[in-house]
Amino acid sequence: MSRGVQTGRLWFFYGLALIASVLAVVVWSTRETPTLESAPADTGRGAELYSSMCASCHGGDLRGTDLGPSHLSILYEPNHHTDDSFRSAITNGARQHHWSFGDMVPVVGLDDDDIDAIIAYVRQQQQIQGFEG
Ligand code: HEC
Repeated sequence: MSRGVQTGRLWFFYGLALIASVLAVVVWSTRETPTLESAPADTGRGAELYSSMCASCHGGDLRGTDLGPSHLSILYEPNHHTDDSFRSAITNGARQHHWSFGDMVPVVGLDDDDIDAIIAYVRQQQQIQGFEG
């Protein structure tokens, strides 16, 4: 093999390496960097789901309606009603026991991510708004 062909190949690989590194820098600089803004976006989704799936009974402001109790009641603070009790109420419904609104029927059509987003939203609102007596 002549020297000329070898050098030619070498330049070819240098070229490839150069293109690859330029591409890598471009991809790296345009990639989606996770920022702090993604956290509120999640509770934003929870807020939307809450208002379409829960607010008709629990109120758009979480303070309850004629059909269901306030989620800002101290009863629903995390130590008394854990995230799992929220999951259970959503998937299995809840028998009337704390109030006299009747039973809560299961809420259908929500996957695990939806449910997590709703719980995160409720917990966030409980922190921001505080509990009722
Ligand atoms: C059709 C009305 C209705 C809808 C819609 C509804 N709930 Fe309820 N929910 C109730 C009622 C009524 C109770 C009170 C039961 C009781 O007496 O403790 C309740 C109770 C709960 C409880 C407490 C359960 C327990 O173990 O004591 C949680 C948590 C809850 N709801 C979450 C939700 C969430 C989250 C949504 C939306 C995904 C939702 N609910 C939608 C009516 C509703």
